[in-house]
Amino acid sequence: MTSREIRQKYLDFFKKQGHAVIPSASLLPENDPSTLFTSSGMQPLVPYLMGEKHPEGTRLADSQKSFRAEDIEEVGDNRHSTFFEMLGNWSLGDYFKKEQLPWFFEFLTKEVGLDPKRLYVSVYSGNAEIGVERDTVSVEIWKEIFKKTGIEARDIEDADKKGMGDGRIFYYGDKKNWWSRSGAPANMPVGEIGGPDSEVFYDLGAELNRHEKSKWKDEPCHVNCDCGRFIEIGNSVFIEFVRTEKGFEPLPQKNVDFGGGLERITMVSQGQDNIFETDLYSGILEKITLLSGGKKYRDNMSSFEVIADHLKAACFIMGDDKGVAPSNTDQGYLVRRLIRRAVRYGKQIGINKDHWTKEAAGIVIEKYREIYPELARNEKFIINNLDEEETKFAKTLNKGLKEFEKMDSGKVTGQDAFNLFQTYGFPLEMFFEELDRNNIKYDKDSVMGEYNRQMQKHQDMSRTAAAGKFKGGLADHSEEVTKLHTAAHLMLSALRRVLGDHVHQKGSNITAERLRFDFSHPEKMTDEQKQAVERLVNEAIAGGFPVKYEEMTLDEARVYGAEGVFESKYGEKVKVYTVGEGNNIFSKEICGGPHVDNTSSLGKFKIKKEESSGSGTRRIKAVLENQ
Ligand code: ALA
Repeated sequence: MTSREIRQKYLDFFKKQGHAVIPSASLLPENDPSTLFTSSGMQPLVPYLMGEKHPEGTRLADSQKSFRAEDIEEVGDNRHSTFFEMLGNWSLGDYFKKEQLPWFFEFLTKEVGLDPKRLYVSVYSGNAEIGVERDTVSVEIWKEIFKKTGIEARDIEDADKKGMGDGRIFYYGDKKNWWSRSGAPANMPVGEIGGPDSEVFYDLGAELNRHEKSKWKDEPCHVNCDCGRFIEIGNSVFIEFVRTEKGFEPLPQKNVDFGGGLERITMVSQGQDNIFETDLYSGILEKITLLSGGKKYRDNMSSFEVIADHLKAACFIMGDDKGVAPSNTDQGYLVRRLIRRAVRYGKQIGINKDHWTKEAAGIVIEKYREIYPELARNEKFIINNLDEEETKFAKTLNKGLKEFEKMDSGKVTGQDAFNLFQTYGFPLEMFFEELDRNNIKYDKDSVMGEYNRQMQKHQDMSRTAAAGKFKGGLADHSEEVTKLHTAAHLMLSALRRVLGDHVHQKGSNITAERLRFDFSHPEKMTDEQKQAVERLVNEAIAGGFPVKYEEMTLDEARVYGAEGVFESKYGEKVKVYTVGEGNNIFSKEICGGPHVDNTSSLGKFKIKKEESSGSGTRRIKAVLENQ
């Protein structure tokens, strides 16, 4: 079965169970300062999991474009990718465990045709400290499910210490079988939602033990040991708790949040043990072979995987309707890193021509243009930016190569290697290759030791920075964030009045302290323009306008003149928020909410900064001052 058939079968299967199929949300999240990218299907649905009404109802399914920057260094081990598609289905306070678990099992065994004997599951072992019991309900459901296929499913404790024995159902604690955007219960900030989960693993076979890092030989193997024998192919999260000041409390509704990687499900269905050996990657891998003058994937697996994954991820991020170009900040920086890493690895496998990344990107766009039409819409943007970045980097790379002329035999240190990595993006392998080519002698162990220490230090620092960012402001629905969100609508409308209709939102990020808002406009705003925008917004606040929403189809929203991103394939319904009433409508915008009921509560709007945010895009930082 091809990946395309699997994706479609999944969506059709859940449609049959009463789900509305919704389009993938943007890879670049709106109003969520906790993260730069959408990295799971539930992220865009958080308001609805917390109780807001979704215009499409209480059962949803989709295939969500996802990107996990934290996995960038993991790519190259056959099972990790930064970009992936997450198949997802949700119950927003509708069905629960006894529907979800059998449905997913049925999908895997009947629709995809997986052998039930190869499926193993895990459940939450409970934690008295937070008052959440072990998930015996799921255990009983799983036993029933397996029994129907003639398998007696035993539940086993402590498989991580004792091994899995003849078990089929395994208990794990907070680290493995609890899911929230910030992980285990102890890591969840106040206001965050999460719950116990139940994962399904596929057994690739006891004979598989090719991972060098495998712990399997010395320790008992179990579904979560990461030796490479078992692979997780789906996770049903029972989002029913919210962390409060007092501890964990039940949400007003019990939700199901299911996510399963299309790449991995395709892999097992195609009898592979490597996501790159599926039809999702075959085209681009063949292209890389051609570009490299005939090098084989099998002989250069890591490099091929990095190139294929990174260029694909860069295409999807740049190809989003809120597309991001390579730059030195935030999302743009990730795009830059992806492209540069791909180019570097390309050099390593002997791709010597210029302007090659766009050829590889062409294959990605071709493969996905029907499923994600935004890639086709934004093809020029992708190709131009990719090519420009490749050209820029090729120059830097050559400067890096010149550094080798200054190095002396016997005096090369790990610090040299790390500096070259930091400044020019040289990987260690290339560093050694260049030394060899220049006949410079070195002590490999000592260089590697020092390099690894520096790298560890660097990674610890970036991790600390990322954790700080997360704490700095989780997407919440606090009063301050909600007020600034409404202010952002007023501001967009004011910008369009003052600057013109070419102004559209390109991104936004709102914390309790300030709003940050990117919009299309080719030049710096004058002081007069900024004052005019402030005045219009403050007049709308003083006017005490009501804020209301209505549900309508995208076509209706367009006719109604609402502002917003019209990205949709299915003609599903959206919410349109209106500020003002009667003849006095100040703003109409497609948006999920939440917003204040009336503008009078906002305080005084002030623009703090207006600056460039990439070519053709400006960024405003603004605040609401209490009066
Ligand atoms: N949100 C869950 C995950 O990402 C399904 O694993």
